[in-house]
Amino acid sequence: MSDLNVHTLTDAVIARMTDKVEPRTRQLMSALIRHLHAFATEVSLTEAEWFAAIDFLTRTGKNCTDTRQEFILLSDVLGLSSLVIATNHPVAAGSLESSVLGPFYLPEMPELPLGSDLAVGVAGTPTLYQGLVTDTDGTPLAGATLDIWSSDGEGWYDVQKPGPLKPAARGRIRTGADGRYAFWSIKPADYPVPTDGPVGELLRAMDRDSMRPGHLHFIASAPGCETVTTQIFASDSPELRRDAVFGVSDGLIAPFVSHAAGTAPDGRVLSTPFCTVDYAIRLRRA
Ligand code: BEZ
Ligand code: FE
Repeated sequence: MSDLNVHTLTDAVIARMTDKVEPRTRQLMSALIRHLHAFATEVSLTEAEWFAAIDFLTRTGKNCTDTRQEFILLSDVLGLSSLVIATNHPVAAGSLESSVLGPFYLPEMPELPLGSDLAVGVAGTPTLYQGLVTDTDGTPLAGATLDIWSSDGEGWYDVQKPGPLKPAARGRIRTGADGRYAFWSIKPADYPVPTDGPVGELLRAMDRDSMRPGHLHFIASAPGCETVTTQIFASDSPELRRDAVFGVSDGLIAPFVSHAAGTAPDGRVLSTPFCTVDYAIRLRRA
């Protein structure tokens, strides 16, 4: 005898799991089923809306390729990526905060000498990034690695350009014996997340902005410390408070100080205006 109705269905579905189910799987699936059913009940989901959602998710999957991950983008614009990051990397006083990885990271970029220009020939305002990497007690971390990537000064990543990939505005820099880092790149521009797929449709349906404030991505690591994937945001970006993927937190905003052409603090002579960014990085001991 079956007595399935809107009041009994949720428990019935959860109860179908046997006692062989691994405890974490049981916890995840029970909560997922409960929340999905509660959502459908709360909004009185119509069959047309249910089908539109299935169609949306199907097209999201079909838009995923080796170089495009529409599902991660969906998670990003719904704030789920940032929520998972914040849950798994709680902010400790003064330590470097995490942010979304984004789709444009390339692993195994070469390590370049301290002070190198990562963006030779890349469009944009030359920018000297420098600072001290320490643990949260303030002890300088020699040999810490920054794995860096960014768009150019017009908002385009090397991987988005047509033709064979020519890595640009990327590379790894290691701190010296005093824990300091320095490298040149450009000042990244604001740019939109891809909006030519289902996630773009969703943003338009929600009357949402697609822009990200200009930012420099990096993964900071050091022996004995927690690795942090994050971004530095330019404090003068008008998009800071409406980042499409909710990746900005106050501690990640840095002033990009503008300078007229001339000699930079590291002795480099520039014939065009340039910027400097001083950003201290504090890593937590693992
Ligand atoms: C990015 O920062 O590169 C990015 C992050 C999330 C979605 C799209 C782009
Ligand atoms: Fe980015």
